[in-house]
This record gives sequence, C-alpha cells and structure tokens, in this order.
Amino acid sequence: MKEKIIIRAMKESDLDHAIELWNHSFQAGYSQTFDTKKRLINYLKRNPGFSTVAYVSNEMIGALLCGHDGRRASVYNTAVKPEYRKLGIGRKMEKRAISEFKKVGITTGFLFINVKNPGSKDFWESIGWTVIDDIKYLYKQF
Ligand SMILES: CC(C)(COP(=O)(O)OP(=O)(O)OC[C@H]1O[C@@H](n2cnc3c(N)ncnc32)[C@H](O)[C@@H]1OP(=O)(O)O)[C@@H](O)C(=O)NCCC(=O)NCCS
Repeated sequence: MKEKIIIRAMKESDLDHAIELWNHSFQAGYSQTFDTKKRLINYLKRNPGFSTVAYVSNEMIGALLCGHDGRRASVYNTAVKPEYRKLGIGRKMEKRAISEFKKVGITTGFLFINVKNPGSKDFWESIGWTVIDDIKYLYKQF
C-alpha cells in the first residue's frame, strides 16, 4: 500500500466516523441504541488515550474501542474498512492500544466476540488472544 497509514488515539471528533464504520462492519449487528454517541463520549473521557483509530489521509479506515477498569483491559468494537483488511491494520491498532495499557501497568485484557462475525475469532487468535472455553459471558439489564 502506497498511502501512509496513521495509527493514533481516538478522539471525540472521530466518533461519527467510527460509529458508521462499526455499524457497517458487524454482521452480527451493532447496537446504536446501546452505543450512542453520548455513551461513547463518556467512555472516551473515562478511558482517554487507549481507543485507537487508523486513517489514510482524511479517511477513517479502522477503529478499536478499548479501556481498562484499573485491573484489566477490555477491548470492544474493532473494525477495519473492507478494502483495507488483511493489511495488518487491525494488528497495528491492537498493538498501539496494548502499548498504552502497558504504560499504566495493565498487562492483561479480555474481549468477547460474536461468533456470527466471520473471521473475528481467527483474527484475535492470530494476534495472540486465547479463547477460554470454560468461561461464559453473563449479562443483566438493570
Ligand atoms: C476482524 C478485522 C478487524 C481484522 O482486521 P484486519 O486489519 O483485516 O486484520 P490484520 O490484517 O491486522 O490481520 C491480523 C491477523 O489476523 C488474520 N486475520 C484477519 N482477518 C481474518 C479473517 N477474516 N480470517 C482469518 N484470519 C484473519 C490475518 O491473516 C493476520 O494474521 P497473520 O499476520 O498471521 O497473517 C476485520 O476483518 C473486520 O473489520 N471485520 C469485520 C468486523 C469484525 O468482525 N470485527 C471483529 C469483531 S470482534
């Protein structure tokens, strides 16, 4: 690829493009009623500097939402535009986020995948994440 890829921290001003990218990327669906812009702004304020975007020129081509709770990192929405996939951009965004976590002493993390998103398990395993078979993810609305 000839164009220069910029990998940097996500800012509030990136959110409109990130929401659009996530919304178009997840076959299992992206919940815009849950991940509202307001909620995402709050998340970035609580977790400044970890979530990561990739740009070519003025075009957002990747976005990864992540943060930590003081103990562990959590990685959420991760997507790369279809025409830029398999070029190492997802890997680069994850690498940047992890290097930021290490700076504040966070050295482990969790993420969950929806198995309806094809390739997502292979992607995360390719970059060193391990599926833990004996843990189930539980949910409650309150
Ligand atoms: C998953 C996704 C973020 C990967 O981004 P990407 O920039 O294409 O990934 P990379 O090029 O950095 O790939 C890193 C490694 O993962 C592997 N990988 C990436 N996508 C893969 C796929 N669909 N199937 C199998 N392996 C895949 C690559 O082969 C590479 O491994 P290698 O270095 O050993 O060759 C991207 O395909 C995407 O946006 N998918 C749609 C949204 C989605 O499902 N997100 C994950 C939700 S949890």
